[in-house]
Amino acid sequence: MTFADPGFGGGGGAALAVSLGAGDADATGALAGADAGALGEAFADGAGGDSGGFSPPPQAPSETASGIRVVAARVSRAAVRVRVRCAMGCYAKGKLGADGKRKACALSVGAMAPLLTVDPRRPDAGTIAKAARVLLRGGLVAFPTETVYGLGARAFDEEAVARVFSAKGRPFRHPLIAHVEGEARARELARRWPERASALARAFWPGPLTLVVERAPHVPAAVAGGGDSIAVRAPAHPVARALIAALGEPIAAPSANRYQGLSPTTAAHVVRQLGGAVDLVLDGGPCEAGIESTVVDLRGERPLALRPGALAMAALRAVLPDLEVRIDAVTVDEVRASPGMGMRHYAPRARLLMRHSWQEARRTAFSLAAGGACVALIVHEAEITSVPSGRVVLRTLPHDPVRYAHDLYGTLHDLDEEGVDVIVVQDVPADEAWWAVADRLRRGAVRSES
Ligand code: TXA
Ligand code: MG
Repeated sequence: MTFADPGFGGGGGAALAVSLGAGDADATGALAGADAGALGEAFADGAGGDSGGFSPPPQAPSETASGIRVVAARVSRAAVRVRVRCAMGCYAKGKLGADGKRKACALSVGAMAPLLTVDPRRPDAGTIAKAARVLLRGGLVAFPTETVYGLGARAFDEEAVARVFSAKGRPFRHPLIAHVEGEARARELARRWPERASALARAFWPGPLTLVVERAPHVPAAVAGGGDSIAVRAPAHPVARALIAALGEPIAAPSANRYQGLSPTTAAHVVRQLGGAVDLVLDGGPCEAGIESTVVDLRGERPLALRPGALAMAALRAVLPDLEVRIDAVTVDEVRASPGMGMRHYAPRARLLMRHSWQEARRTAFSLAAGGACVALIVHEAEITSVPSGRVVLRTLPHDPVRYAHDLYGTLHDLDEEGVDVIVVQDVPADEAWWAVADRLRRGAVRSES
């Protein structure tokens, strides 16, 4: 199924029609596709009445012949919004003003890549061989790692590498990580392999640690964003390892999300963001860490941590006592005061707001909800166990940096899927163990516009 024209009733494309019911309390969405005729209707109840509300997937025809399903529907005085999932992984969303006129309609994904399920512990050799053939032909394969899903291409195929940047919408100057089997293959990509790199590889590979070293001349500059360094990592995930081994070469892979978007921790997250831009998705279930690798630059006198991540700083310091840390620490107040600093990354579709305490976060959430916004509140302490009305969607994450990191992206993906406008987050503790989480939250809260 293809939807050539995501426009609203644009003659031959997909159209999402939404109409207001009595008292703004009902919404009806209908999706029609050009090549399949009328695909069906999806109904949604607006739970919020006047002040706006949110209804989780309502009593839609759960699976019509065309596979249409209402993912989220929301009714407020100002607008009706419906998100519909249809066959082949396509998504459509529409917004209708109270005057009955369309405000926006878009298809987020045109088609879904073939998806192969693979046992995360003992991946089937035939499936891996198939994926390796896709890479050899210059295709893109999304695959699970122990951190997040990667969008892989053959590192020595410059055209394939260029497709990775296009699929993500990522600037060509942003370097990719070359995924290798282990130290011996990593050395081949480096002009110089520091002693420290060996110590770190021995201690933490395969695992969630990325090392930046000088790039060997035969490694395509495109992988390194045109620079003279190269980031290398030996992932621990059996599927990633099997794929690298089957290809017999390094795989260049950023996280498999759109530029600045949320990293995917499941195959469904990949499909939702990249859909038809990927040639094959290997579905190995949810990622264990749920947050990206720790990145350390080994080119200077002193090793320098560039990105906190799944490998704990404390573990790294045990091997590198002289580790320097240069993480552009944005504070919650800076995020609030100076948006648009170009640091936006790891961001959900919804606006993310950080607040110092859960009380402050809750106040903000309720005041926004009272104004008609669909709001979610993320806290990490058990003090709030419920919210008094259905106005605010509450998520409580573990008060433990590793488990919080594991749940964070999945929670943000879910809230985006539910169609919330704003996510208010209680800030996390300042100590080193929380840096990776704090970094992702701060960057996610930076607004790209304004
Ligand atoms: O866990 C991970 O690292 C995942 C999985 C798929 O391996 N990959 C990932 O890739 O997060 P990406 O491209 O989304 O993030 C790579 C990070 C970026 O912060 C990038 O700036 C940094 O590594 N990086 C890559 N190459 C670099 C280089 N040559 N010099 C400095 N930083 C580099
Ligand atoms: Mg990324």
